[in-house]
Amino acid sequence: MLLVFEGIDGVGKSTQIRAVSEALRVLGIEVVASKEPTDGPFGRRLRASATTGRLDPAEELELFMADRREHVARLILPSLARGAVVILDRYYFSTAAYQGARGLSWEAILAANEEFAPEPDLLVWLDLPPDASMERIRARGDGANEFERANLLEASRRIFASISKPYLRRMDATQSVEAIRDTVVGEVRQLLGARGLHADGRKPTDTGASI
Ligand code: TYD
Repeated sequence: MLLVFEGIDGVGKSTQIRAVSEALRVLGIEVVASKEPTDGPFGRRLRASATTGRLDPAEELELFMADRREHVARLILPSLARGAVVILDRYYFSTAAYQGARGLSWEAILAANEEFAPEPDLLVWLDLPPDASMERIRARGDGANEFERANLLEASRRIFASISKPYLRRMDATQSVEAIRDTVVGEVRQLLGARGLHADGRKPTDTGASI
């Protein structure tokens, strides 16, 4: 199962992913948590560009795509094949939203990614207005970087709002960490149950408690 968290900077994705991962592990589920940009060579170049000055949109898009191809091939597909729940802090919906905000077609970006990147089973969009998200970034002691300028965040948020997929759930990010966690864990358990899997990945014919 592929579970993806998206949203503009400062909405609380990493905190939420820690909470959900912990709750799923307690249920006996194998969780592989990862993020994009990755810590690989392409991801490192992208992170550096946040402080040293942004690349032009086409070049930036190419690097995010290269980073993702590697991530999909090396980590995401093998982990899914093993039956783990893979949780991602950002995925190609961020490319649609952020590179789309720089003027590229977000629809074309989604389509290009869907050619090689598996679609999520559940996409949690943590939604918060940029004013509030930037306040959270300041509160955690980080200065906003080049990716985080308010007008770009507003444009990115509008694109997240335009994406329509059956697996997308918008969640109000002003809710407590626990409230969001419980909703997400409930949805994951429901999805695993619908596939006839117990929380620990065993088939229903195995003995033991079900989820
Ligand atoms: P972020 O999640 O903030 O990483 P970290 O906190 O580890 O530095 O990601 C860095 C920025 O990259 C973020 O502002 C969003 C942007 N981004 C894109 O523009 N396109 C993408 O495809 C992805 C995955 C991220």
